[in-house]
Amino acid sequence: MENFYFYAPTYFAFGKDMESEAGRLVKRFGGSRVLIHYGGGSVVRSGLLDRVKASLDKEGIGYVTLGGVKPNPRSGLVYEGIDLCRKEGVDFVLAVGGGSVIDSSKAIAAGTIYDGDFWDFYEGKPVEKALPIGTVLTIAAAGSEGSPDSVITKEEGNLKRGASGEAYRPRFSILNPALTQTLPPHQTAAGITDIIAHLYERYLTNSTEVEVTDRLIEALIMTMKYEGPRVIEDPNNYEARANIMWGGMVAHNNICGVGRSQDWSSHAIEHELSAEYDCAHGAGLAVTMPAVFKYTMHHDVKRFATIARRVWDVTQADDEKAALAGIEALSSFLSSLGMPKNFAELGANEADIEKMAERACYGDGNGSGYIYGFTKLSKEDVVNIYKMMV
Ligand code: NZQ
Ligand code: ZN
Repeated sequence: MENFYFYAPTYFAFGKDMESEAGRLVKRFGGSRVLIHYGGGSVVRSGLLDRVKASLDKEGIGYVTLGGVKPNPRSGLVYEGIDLCRKEGVDFVLAVGGGSVIDSSKAIAAGTIYDGDFWDFYEGKPVEKALPIGTVLTIAAAGSEGSPDSVITKEEGNLKRGASGEAYRPRFSILNPALTQTLPPHQTAAGITDIIAHLYERYLTNSTEVEVTDRLIEALIMTMKYEGPRVIEDPNNYEARANIMWGGMVAHNNICGVGRSQDWSSHAIEHELSAEYDCAHGAGLAVTMPAVFKYTMHHDVKRFATIARRVWDVTQADDEKAALAGIEALSSFLSSLGMPKNFAELGANEADIEKMAERACYGDGNGSGYIYGFTKLSKEDVVNIYKMMV
């Protein structure tokens, strides 16, 4: 195990009706004038936005609202949010929605108190200061409710980039699993896929003797394997929703990633797909992960064989065969949830492979020409991986 620091001070309020605590929690964490940021309308239709506003009213906290965040959130609305926060003297940003709303909120929170262009943070500048952020989560997926990360797409050039910093960890997050019962099945499945991806990206490590985090990751993937079909079968299964929602947080606040190197090449390769085709990030990962894993498994066949046996019930004695069977089992599981298997099902186009590989390898701010993770992938490797997805 390698040395590490771990500080994840988000306060969680988990369970039924917890959104009624929003006002109390904003007050507790110092907010007096709030931007309520939300997406394309699901929180309006469900009545959640009204309940959150009522909770703020009850505490006498003033607010302004800004809706319209799209999945794969765009920089244009972030600039609008920054202007609004400055004009209105906002001192707290409350995200009501999914990962896209939370990530847009984080960008606004940093940009409001920064003299330069907020995009600087998405080109590698560490986020040191931001307005405090709270979240009311409506989909178990990205893990942004507990993470120090945000991912935004710049419209010019379809540049999808991440920014990180401890200031991006929400002060509080409200997780009511019942709020996720209105999700369309495709979004539920894409969320579960993203959660599994966050676990694999950490499992694929070059660090040794990391038994605690290995076992945590295995347990969480097994939970998704158990709860995924239950929630697709019955979208109103509160207990399954609850386990998936808390699992999604634990998968990505990095408690499973401490003391070990991590991969993240599936995410880097997928981000080009959701930037280019505006597909759900999880759907893109369902197509990406099996290809990346098959391409890189010889770097450490034993590791892939171990997860295959412990999580996917693979019994082959031969490591290579077991590793491959584990990847196939993951792939079949994701398609059983309704996730796409290839470019055609995702709506991706073979003709864009060269362009996406170029951006994935040279567009990360350091221009290194490689994706560094479990293995070192050149542009040629990335082209080969995309071709495996066709
Ligand atoms: O916009 P509305 O109308 O709310 O609809 C959303 C959206 O269309 C809908 N939805 C959400 N909750 C709902 C609901 N519909 C009905 N009932 C509900 N309760 O679902 C759609 C997807 O929402 P989105 O917020 O985009 O989903 P997700 O949480 O998967 O976020 C995806 C974004 O997060 C980024 C991804 O790249 C992508 O841009 N990521 C962020 C990370 C982070 N900040 O730590 C890490 C991840 O790896 C990921 O990259
Ligand atoms: Zn993800």
